[in-house]
Amino acid sequence: TYAPLIDPFARPIDYLRVSVTDRCDFRCTYCMAEHMQFLPKKELLTLEELDRLCSAFVELGVKKLRITGGEPLVRRDIMTFFRAMSRHLESGALRELTLTTNGSQLGRFAADLHALGMRRINVSLDTLDADKFAQITRWGRLEQVKEGLEAAKRAGLKVKINTVALKGFNEDELFPLIDWCANEGHDLTFIEVMPMGEMGDDLRLDQYWPLSDLRKRLAERFTLTELAESTGGPARYVRLEETGQKIGFITPLTHNFCENCNRVRVTCTGELFMCLGQEDNADLRAPLRASADDAALIEAIRGAIARKPKGHDFDYSRQTVSGRMTRHMSHTGG
Ligand code: GTP
Ligand code: 5AD
Ligand code: SF4
Repeated sequence: TYAPLIDPFARPIDYLRVSVTDRCDFRCTYCMAEHMQFLPKKELLTLEELDRLCSAFVELGVKKLRITGGEPLVRRDIMTFFRAMSRHLESGALRELTLTTNGSQLGRFAADLHALGMRRINVSLDTLDADKFAQITRWGRLEQVKEGLEAAKRAGLKVKINTVALKGFNEDELFPLIDWCANEGHDLTFIEVMPMGEMGDDLRLDQYWPLSDLRKRLAERFTLTELAESTGGPARYVRLEETGQKIGFITPLTHNFCENCNRVRVTCTGELFMCLGQEDNADLRAPLRASADDAALIEAIRGAIARKPKGHDFDYSRQTVSGRMTRHMSHTGG
């Protein structure tokens, strides 16, 4: 057994996000370019390497493992990997094994995911209008995602919808989205759009819809009760007293939550990013491939955690954008 991971700001790191592919069947405009150059397969960690890597983190005290991408469910044979990870749930080492997905493949996989111990998943959905959905994802079919969500419900998976708040795009859908989630029994979290990936000269400033505004609009219609509970992620939650619904806010811009950061992320090529909004990273693929023994891998992880930065530098507050990243969100999995 190893000492747990603690960063230089005394933050315990017990949440790992792992991207298993850079590919996706959609191309959300704030996430990917229309024509993405995807990585050659040999660059990717194999499923066995992913198992070793995640298992090393579990030994180092990681309690929550979230699989991301790209779209994790388009990675070939991904269920083999999930099944392998479920042994850490069974042993009690891992508290939660979960997934962030665009929902398109849930029809095929929801039942299996529940059977191996997954209980809660996050599904990205920015609009309930089929035309707008096709526009933001560049070609996605809303109906397919809705079918995926039905399958998740049938399988007993609790769903949290992630909606990126986009000025001029889904402002008019605030209440329809809330009503729909109430009917479907889904939680809902809004996310402030971050300046990552390719963007126009305005650096997404004209798409930026501060969640402080969104919250004000909510408070005009509902009684909001601040909830102290956390899922161990960055969202802060309120309950709408009139419906009992839980609404989350992920506010990297209007309210920086970095002081409570508990997470790091690994890309599909094995780079460990200590912060979503910083470039510094550590190569874990080399130590994974150099030896079947985990000693060097664990040392590389510890060395990287020892230089985890205080937080991101995203800032839209003076009507200029600082802290922008040219890296696409799909590279680090959010
Ligand atoms: P829960 O377990 O439900 O709390 O999920 P989560 O919010 O941890 O995971 P999810 O994949 O749903 O994350 C939603 C989005 O929040 C991510 O895609 C990012 O856009 C954003 N996010 C998550 N962690 C961080 C972080 O450390 N920094 C910043 N700036 N954004 C983050
Ligand atoms: N800003 C904020 N959220 C983003 N996501 C992708 N790109 C961005 C961005 N630039 C969100 C997706 C998904 C999660 C994985 O990250 O909508 O819910
Ligand atoms: Fe794919 Fe998710 Fe990125 Fe959209 S946000 S392109 S669904 S990885």
